[in-house]
Amino acid sequence: MKRHPSLEPFSRDHNDGLILARRLSEGGMAALPLFHQEWERELRDHFEEEVRLLGPLCGPDAQDRLHREHGQIQTLGHAAATDDDAARLGKLLEEHIRWEERELFPEIERTADSLQLGSLAHAAAALERRRWASDARRAELVARRESGAATTAADLGYLSRVADDLGPQWGMESEDLNATLLAWTMGNGVEEHVNDEVDVLVLAVEGRIELRIGDDSLTLGPGQMALIPKGARRSITCVSDRAAHLNIHKRRRKLMPGSLQRPPARQG
Ligand SMILES: [Fe+2]
Ligand SMILES: [Fe+2]
Repeated sequence: MKRHPSLEPFSRDHNDGLILARRLSEGGMAALPLFHQEWERELRDHFEEEVRLLGPLCGPDAQDRLHREHGQIQTLGHAAATDDDAARLGKLLEEHIRWEERELFPEIERTADSLQLGSLAHAAAALERRRWASDARRAELVARRESGAATTAADLGYLSRVADDLGPQWGMESEDLNATLLAWTMGNGVEEHVNDEVDVLVLAVEGRIELRIGDDSLTLGPGQMALIPKGARRSITCVSDRAAHLNIHKRRRKLMPGSLQRPPARQG
């Protein structure tokens, strides 16, 4: 069965992983430097991103197995001292990849809905852009896939849950409208500014945000929203460990307020 495009970045890594597994199985200790090199180049990041991006789409058993096998491969990879250890490492790695390709990925393709898979594709493309900025071949694959990607629907809960950076996580623009999902950690947010051009609807998706509009302030939690009228002085501050909100407004000239990183805001 053809792999869903959102999982292709992981499957591309698996091609490299299977070559490494075979080298370890056949070459013993002589292949261990290659493991360390691949660990730094790709494997560690691959493991972390599978847990971050695929974990929320898996059942608890699959999540446990993902964590457990990643841990076993990391531990053995850094402790291997004999040809037998290296061969065992190769076998572990190969079996782990086969499990993901034959069971885990098909399960995700079967159980995730199209909005979740579309949002995963968005997050996976961002991961590839980050990782392959200096690799022209992979960068081109990302660009080609993104040009055909639909960006008018998203699973905001999933995207806010997997956010690993501050600020914009996802956005869409139609002829008339603009929507941007932003994520913050405690005390961070959008610094005070005035926008004279458009009204902005702020919808809290995760955590709690404090919205200051003029001299008023109000705190929003998931599912709560407020309208900021144009011309009002406003700021948004995350007042929980993490928070995410969707800003929606009429399309306008680009105006990007600076983001604010400061000590935790006072609560209450
Ligand atoms: Fe994995
Ligand atoms: Fe994998």
